[in-house]
Amino acid sequence: MLELLYKRRSIRRFNDIPVEQEKVDQLVKGVLLAPSSRSLDAQRFIVVDNKELLEKLSVSRNHGSSFLKNAPLAIVFIGDSSLSDVWVEDTVIAATFTQLLVESLGLGSCWVQIRNRTHDENTSSDEYLKKLLSIPEELQVECIIGLGYPEEKKPPHTDEKLKYDRVSLNSYGNKLK
Ligand SMILES: Cc1cc2nc3c(=O)[nH]c(=O)nc-3n(C[C@H](O)[C@H](O)[C@H](O)COP(=O)(O)O)c2cc1C
Repeated sequence: MLELLYKRRSIRRFNDIPVEQEKVDQLVKGVLLAPSSRSLDAQRFIVVDNKELLEKLSVSRNHGSSFLKNAPLAIVFIGDSSLSDVWVEDTVIAATFTQLLVESLGLGSCWVQIRNRTHDENTSSDEYLKKLLSIPEELQVECIIGLGYPEEKKPPHTDEKLKYDRVSLNSYGNKLK
């Protein structure tokens, strides 16, 4: 697992090949296995493999989402705030599960932040996606994970880059190392 965490990097360029249905099925199992507060299952997901829709997803933000245009697959992570006051945590855990599962399947992925972001000066990214994907008004979009077979190769994280000064032992500021 730790090796997987070192290897995981944000991948924004993908080969022009589809993700096999078997892998898509595993990714769907992965999101459904993510825990939720009080087991309320406040997360909802949309798997997008339609090229035209992916192009439209790529402009959900004024910047930071353009790479989705060339991704063969994306999963949209949605929360239901009427079910849970911690829908953000619930959806983020499912998205994180997805990024790690993606890595373990030999694929690559990158997060697109949607909550608190804008499509243009008059429209939030959440509003834009609700209209595009027929998402009910009372739900909230947290993020999109774009994924596919990596076209770019990035070096894994290294121990030298780990900032141990961010970690304390027993009391804040008490150095661990
Ligand atoms: C909460 C969150 C939001 C992010 N939003 C975006 C985004 O909107 N667009 C994007 O291209 N990358 C986004 N990223 C990816 C980060 O830029 C990336 O994880 C970071 O630079 C570290 O690089 P690494 O993932 O290769 O380790 C996001 C990552 C996180 C955790």
